[in-house]
Amino acid sequence: MTSASDTGSARAGTSGTPHPIVVLVSGTGTNLQALIDASADPAYGVRIAAVGADRDGIEGLARAERAGIPTFVLRVTDFPTREEWDQALADRVSSYDPALVVSAGFMKLAGEAFLDRFGGRYVNTHPALCPSFPGMHGARDALAYGVKVTGCTLFVVDAGIDTGPIVAQVPVPVVDGDTEESLHERIKTAERSLLVDCVGRMCRHGFTITQRKVTLA
Ligand code: GAR
Repeated sequence: MTSASDTGSARAGTSGTPHPIVVLVSGTGTNLQALIDASADPAYGVRIAAVGADRDGIEGLARAERAGIPTFVLRVTDFPTREEWDQALADRVSSYDPALVVSAGFMKLAGEAFLDRFGGRYVNTHPALCPSFPGMHGARDALAYGVKVTGCTLFVVDAGIDTGPIVAQVPVPVVDGDTEESLHERIKTAERSLLVDCVGRMCRHGFTITQRKVTLA
């Protein structure tokens, strides 16, 4: 697979070799686990080359280690500037030569160096129906607003906060008595299926992005 630009396209590889991806995490990593489980089937066509994080001691890294996947941690505070951290992240992810980079609960915004390298092939999953409720608390903000339907969005990351071209969305109902936790868990169930389905299709068959419209081949 090659990268997609705003007017370009991504093509699937022709060999039977699984497409390498790098997954970035900051937390419990249940979305990562769904990708690990799916990748166990050769027909899925995806190999997780590495899992990266911005912090130590998280379950997401432990999940990768249990699965025998290489991991790395790059903490923002270990770098003199945010730009240097971003450059280091881009360099480290590049070393795995990924077809796609997946943010699965990675709570850091990618900067210019990272997007220069991976723009068009860096996807993020967000627990709300973009463009509603961007940011760190998609489920909490939807609940507080009082919407009756929210959901999850997979999108191609751009320089904004949850503003990139949308790959796919799934609606999820808000029910009476929901807490942030119960709503987020219901969203995450939908999110894991969406992520596994779309990442597999994007890697196996490619995709195009034309004027914000993402089309899976
Ligand atoms: C997911 O719901 C993901 O959408 C969200 O963090 C959760 C990670 O769960 N990401 C964001 O809110 C980014 N704005 P997980 O660690 O269990 O995969």
